[in-house]
Order: sequence, then C-alpha cells, then structure tokens
Amino acid sequence: MSHTFTHALVTGGAGFIGSNLVKCLLNKGMSVTVIDNLSMGAKSSVDTRARFIEGDIRNEEDVRTALEGVDCVFHLAACVTIRASFDKFYDDADTNIMGTMMLLKCVDSANVRQFTFASSMAIYADSPTTAPVAESYTIDPQSPYGVGKLASEIIGKQILGQKGIPLSVVRYFNTYGPGQTLTPYVGVITIFINKLLKGEQPVIFGDGEQQRDFTHVDDIVSGTMATLAGPPGTYNLGTGKASSVNDIASMLIAHINPDITPLYAAEQVGELKISIADILKAQNNLNYSPSHDIASDIKSVIEHIKTR
Ligand SMILES: NC(=O)c1ccc[n+]([C@@H]2O[C@H](COP(=O)([O-])OP(=O)(O)OC[C@H]3O[C@@H](n4cnc5c(N)ncnc54)[C@H](O)[C@@H]3O)[C@@H](O)[C@H]2O)c1
Repeated sequence: MSHTFTHALVTGGAGFIGSNLVKCLLNKGMSVTVIDNLSMGAKSSVDTRARFIEGDIRNEEDVRTALEGVDCVFHLAACVTIRASFDKFYDDADTNIMGTMMLLKCVDSANVRQFTFASSMAIYADSPTTAPVAESYTIDPQSPYGVGKLASEIIGKQILGQKGIPLSVVRYFNTYGPGQTLTPYVGVITIFINKLLKGEQPVIFGDGEQQRDFTHVDDIVSGTMATLAGPPGTYNLGTGKASSVNDIASMLIAHINPDITPLYAAEQVGELKISIADILKAQNNLNYSPSHDIASDIKSVIEHIKTR
C-alpha cells in the first residue's frame, strides 16, 4: 500500500487517533515525523521509532521543520471538542483553521504528494431519520468546531488544488478505543467507563436517544491509511450502524456496575441528534472495511481503561 510513500508527517500524532496512526505507519515500514504541542496528547503515546517535534501547527518554523523530508501529510492536530467550541470559538478557529492554513502555506508539491485531512461528521446537517448520510448529504455545521472543519476542507481543496497536491478528506464519526484522552467533552464511551469504574453515575445529555455511529480507532486508522493508495476524495469513515447513548450506557452499566443508574441533564447545543455514516464510497474506493463492533469490543475497551 505505502510503497510509493516513505515518510509521513502526522500532525496531532501524540493524540488518540494520531498515535494509533503513527504506530500503523511505522509498522508498514514508513518513517514518521510527529508534530504535536501536547495541549491534549502525551509524548509517551508517541511510538519511540517516530521523530517527535514538540511544536505548534500555527508556528511557521515548527511546521517547516516538521515537513523536512516528508512525502505525505496526515493532518489530525486540532482542538477536538464540539461543545467547548462555543465558549472557545476563537481558540478553536485559531488552531483548526489557522493551523491548517499554516500547513497549507508550507507544503510544497516538490516533496509532498498526498495530503490527508481529518474532518468530522460535525460538518453535516442534523438528519431527521436514522438513514446513514453519504458525503453528498446537506452540509450545515451546527457548531464552531464543525465550521472550522468545513472551512479547512474547502480551503484545503482550493490551495492544494492550486499546488497540485492530491487531497483526501476523511470525515470521522464518533471514534472509540484504546488511548482516548479523558476529557469532559469528547468520547462518551471513555467518559462513561471512567465514571462507572469510580462508582459514579454517567451523565446523559438530553433523552439519550441520540443516535451515533461508534467506530473503533483501528478501523478509523485503516481507512485513513488507505487514502495513500486510493483515489483522492472525500470519505466518510464510520461503520454505518447506529447505537443510542442510552444503549451505550446500558451496555457499560451491565458490564461494570449493574447497580448504577444514569443521570440525565440538559441537551447540549451543537451536537447532532442523529449521526450515522454511509460508508459505501470508502468501501468502494478505499477498500475500507470496518471490522469492529461496539457490542463485541466493549469488554476489551473496559479492560484497557482499567489497566491504565
Ligand atoms: N475522536 C473523534 O471521535 C473524532 C471524530 C471526528 C473527527 N475527529 C478528528 O480527528 C483528529 C484527531 O482527534 P483525536 O480524537 O485523536 O483528538 P486528540 O485531542 O486526542 O488529538 C489531537 C492532537 O492535536 C494536538 N494539538 C492540538 N492543537 C495543536 C496545535 N496547535 N499544534 C500542534 N498540535 C496540536 C493535541 O495535543 C492532540 O495530541 C482531530 O482532527 C479531530 O477533529 C475526531
């Protein structure tokens, strides 16, 4: 797959998805450089075989250093929180839009022959039904975070198009699995498991009937890797299957502590009610084939968090 590429830059490579991607690229025999400002990620998550630059994607010198010798870029560095992007809209845009701009400014087609951008389901309009949404579905981001991802997609197409660098946009749906940083905002599965292990009640926002496409990080990584071989384009990466937040809470409660009941709190602004990926395009063009299933994975995810 990666025979034409030898050296990848992973921005945000100390984060949850990035650190898993870095491992996978290294295991395919590629050299990897990581740039991460460690605002969320941890240096200890970065495979020691990678070249690590503690730097900021908004800093031109850091970005130019990171790009040395690189022939493909995976751009994952971002402020990753839909909810907090309302209060922190300036910081969100500063990293997610201006950080992307800096990378676009510095990439050079003489060296870089593929650019893959990690976008999000947050760019879509809410869906009135549980039918999976394809890439052609209505675009209408409901949060500053979604706006920033969409802006980066569009400007990425314009600037990389002009520079002659192929772009693939991968729109990730809710990602879970080992290595997710615990924050109050991102990763409902990780948050619930941590609460339940402490004997605390998980908090469900709204009625809990919001539908999500929970996708294992290994599947997200394999779809992202596949952009090195597949035709450039915009691809949903999810599973195509829905679970409600109530389903997830019940499943985790049954596994961890059946005596606990969830708490319900006010619905959160900016979050989609229904978010399920139609993955046909990625299946056809990237041979993407998600192999994980939340129900059968849940035990190993719990065990992983327990041992951390
Ligand atoms: N986790 C999900 O469910 C999900 C869903 C859709 C899209 N995404 C996208 O996938 C990508 C990876 O997300 P993740 O879940 O691994 O999040 P994460 O927070 O674990 O990783 C992001 C990394 O970027 C780094 N970073 C932030 N600002 C930076 C800056 N200015 N300069 C350099 N590094 C910076 C952080 O320190 C962190 O290590 C993000 O672009 C995110 O928007 C994630």
